[in-house]
Amino acid sequence: MAITMRGVPLVLVLGLCAAPRAAVADDAVAKLFRARCATCHGAAGDGNTASGRKLGVKNWRAARILPRLSDGEIARIVREGVKGKGGKWAMAPFPKLSDEQIASLTAHMRALAK
Ligand code: HEC
Repeated sequence: MAITMRGVPLVLVLGLCAAPRAAVADDAVAKLFRARCATCHGAAGDGNTASGRKLGVKNWRAARILPRLSDGEIARIVREGVKGKGGKWAMAPFPKLSDEQIASLTAHMRALAK
C-alpha cells in the first residue's frame, strides 16, 4: 500500500518532466527567434532591419508569404538555408536546430505573420 501511494506522485512528476519535450516553451521560442532570426527578419517578422533590407527579406506581416509554405517547406528552408545571387548564402542554414525547435519557430513565425 505504501509503495503504491509513493508510486503515484512519482509517475505524475515523470509525466510533468516529459511534457515540455514535445514543444519548446513559448518564451524560449521567442528568445530563440530573437537570437537567431530577428537580425534579418525583425523581432516582429517584418524584415525591417539593416540586414533584412540589405538582403531583401520579405515582410511576413504585409505579404502572404508564410501561408503559401507548408510546415515541411519552412523546415527545409530553415535547415538548408537560402542561396542568394552569386551562390552566396542569403540565409545560412541552421542544421543544428531540432525538429521540435523548428516546429515551434514555425508556429511563432506564423503567429507573427497574422
Ligand atoms: C542573415 C539573415 C537571415 C537570418 C539570420 C535568417 N534569415 Fe530567414 N531568410 C533570409 C533571406 C535573405 C531569405 C530569403 C528572402 C527571399 O528570398 O525573398 C529568408 C527566407 C526565410 C524563409 C522563407 C520565407 C521568406 O520570407 O522567403 C523562412 C521561413 C525563414 N527565412 C526563416 C528563418 C528562421 C526561422 C531563421 C532563424 C532560425 C532565419 N530565417 C534566419 C535571411 C535570414
